[in-house]
Amino acid sequence: MSSFRNLRLDLGEPVATLTIDRPDKLNALDRATLLELGEAMELVREAEGVRGMIITGTGERAFAAGADIAELAALGPLEAVETSRLGQEVFSRVERSGKPVVAAVNGYALGGGCELALACHLRVAATTAKLGLPEVTLGVIPGYGGTVRLPRLIGRGRALELILTGEMIDAAEAHRIGLVNRLAEPGELLKEARRLLERIVANGPLAVGMAIESVHRGEGMEIDAALATEAHLFGVLAASDDMREGMSAFLEKRSPRFSGR
Ligand code: COA
Repeated sequence: MSSFRNLRLDLGEPVATLTIDRPDKLNALDRATLLELGEAMELVREAEGVRGMIITGTGERAFAAGADIAELAALGPLEAVETSRLGQEVFSRVERSGKPVVAAVNGYALGGGCELALACHLRVAATTAKLGLPEVTLGVIPGYGGTVRLPRLIGRGRALELILTGEMIDAAEAHRIGLVNRLAEPGELLKEARRLLERIVANGPLAVGMAIESVHRGEGMEIDAALATEAHLFGVLAASDDMREGMSAFLEKRSPRFSGR
């Protein structure tokens, strides 16, 4: 267990768990917490036995109820730009992680909390969770990637409805519109997130990392460039022990033992 002030990071193998831990502020993401999240992503990247990661919040009330409004209220324009860039940069580290990251949304995921869940590769939500981007109700806009990632995930019309109304939706509606991948009873949430990740991390780790990279990079490209990127990543994997092992195991009718090399 690595020690942070506002986070708990359990570098379990193969699945690490990061818990946002500011329950008296509904796990609101202040600057200190964002900086710690950035550091935690680095520790997860370096930890060899860790193949995937769950991000969740302490308690049953909140995953994270947003950026810290008390802190935002005091920002001037230049500081606000810098804060937005910090949040974006830290969440991009989550999105670019070669190790798959699953958000286990245990309660409110609002504003920056929802944006953090959007930066994760997959989302499992408790049936009691509530999600939304209420920034316009505060006179601002989502500034940690929400206006960029939400339309890509659920389509422009649905994204604009959520962003412009600022309304919260419940977990069932979030599941219906594709904002979350799976639902779980609150007591089963972490187990369900772990089950999902365990299926993923049983696969070739290099292939999982490059699949994430291909999808992520491809999103920002026109189709021919995206296809070329996919072909190159496919080619790189042909040089890996993992590909030889995966294919030999299939032909020899046994389970693969991937080394991540
Ligand atoms: N930033 C800072 N503090 C926050 C916070 C946030 N985003 N969200 C909640 N808190 C704090 C509250 O100020 C309160 O602190 P206090 O006990 O010192 O007064 C504590 O967390 C509990 O929140 P409270 O509002 O009393 O709980 P609730 O159950 O009545 O309401 C919410 C829950 C999530 C509906 C409500 O807290 C809320 O609307 N939060 C803000 C959500 C938001 O707009 N996020 C986007 C920010 S850009």
